[in-house]
Amino acid sequence: MALLVQEYLDRIRAEHADAADGALADYIPELARVDPAGFGVSLSSSDGFVYESGDAGVEFTIQSISKAFTYALALDRIGEVAVDARIGVEPSGEAFNEISVDETTRMPKNPMINAGAIAAVSLIPAGSADERFALIHDFYSACAGRRLDLDVDVYESEKATGSRNRAIAYMLQSFGVLDDDPDEVLDVYYRQCSLRVTTTDLARMAATLARGGSNPMTGRRVTTSAVVKRTLSVMVTCGMYDAAGDWVSAVGMPAKSGVGGGIVAVLPGQLGIGVYSPLLDDKGNSVRGVRLCRSLSEQLGLHFLAVSRESRAAMRAVYEPLEGVRVYETHGDLSFCGAEQVVRTVDREMRGFDVVILDVSRVDDIDDAARGLLSGMSKILRAQGKTGYVVDPGGIMTDTEAESDGVRFRTVDDAVAAASSR
Ligand code: DON
Repeated sequence: MALLVQEYLDRIRAEHADAADGALADYIPELARVDPAGFGVSLSSSDGFVYESGDAGVEFTIQSISKAFTYALALDRIGEVAVDARIGVEPSGEAFNEISVDETTRMPKNPMINAGAIAAVSLIPAGSADERFALIHDFYSACAGRRLDLDVDVYESEKATGSRNRAIAYMLQSFGVLDDDPDEVLDVYYRQCSLRVTTTDLARMAATLARGGSNPMTGRRVTTSAVVKRTLSVMVTCGMYDAAGDWVSAVGMPAKSGVGGGIVAVLPGQLGIGVYSPLLDDKGNSVRGVRLCRSLSEQLGLHFLAVSRESRAAMRAVYEPLEGVRVYETHGDLSFCGAEQVVRTVDREMRGFDVVILDVSRVDDIDDAARGLLSGMSKILRAQGKTGYVVDPGGIMTDTEAESDGVRFRTVDDAVAAASSR
């Protein structure tokens, strides 16, 4: 079966292999020395299975893709409120290296442009630049599931030619956004941009975000799902710079590009993608990388807003084992919408029964919203003179009112027996 996916990936990559438009980034001289023909893609499932095609083992520098991960680390370490006090979340519609801040707040508009990324570096709590870089390096490595290496040549090349970033960092200091020495913060920023990755590393880093912060390969939780939610949100609106609108319309995955030629894309809950091709468009995004992601999204149906059908029915079956006793059998993952469907159906049909048995034994997972709604159902039933039982052998409704009422059963037969002897 894995072969089928491999064939898909090879075919989609081959569709773009001959394109040679775009240009290498040369404002960092060392970046202009890479092979322009390099072209690879990796796909990681959310359980960590990786498919690779083309130059998936070639290392390149992570560059601006790093911005998403340092932002996540800052959120993880000091929390959303403190990060929001220094960096906005609004798309700028500007180039990645624009020397600008928000006119009203005087803060960088978002963490995906250089100004916001430099500010994010300064928010990682550490006693020295080396310690700060070590935290960043460890975090990226934990997301990738292997120790990443620094490309010293690219780091030195960027440091030697970084006037624009120096301008940004000193501007941020003058607006009170940077507390630390701008050159020290920049040094860490250059180092983070110069960490080497392959598309497989990027796919694994993406899959770690797709899984809400736990690395599918190592099983290690690297951050919280709240941090991931915020990071992915900003990647959706700002990750592809002034091409963000086109990207969301055509590809529809939270993503981040880098001038090294990489793109990371995340399909939440499902997939992580890493792409590499160093020829860039005028916005600094990989030309073939964007096209490949577009084809992957179209041909594999990966757009995160694609609504192919109504949300899956939460109800698997409804039946009456005895007159006046109705069983509502639920299944799958129950969240607010599924539970709402159950509650509304029971409410609508209430005249037709005296006892309702809610069978959640086939539910795989339930969130707090669904649990709250379903447990509230017993109170409403009681107020209407009805009786509610729950069949919950796995205890997924634990702590609910239903359980404290002592009406939880292991099997539907037990619940029906209790109903008939009322
Ligand atoms: O700040 C810079 O110029 C680079 N180190 C990173 C820029 C980058 O990757 C922009 N992305 N497309």
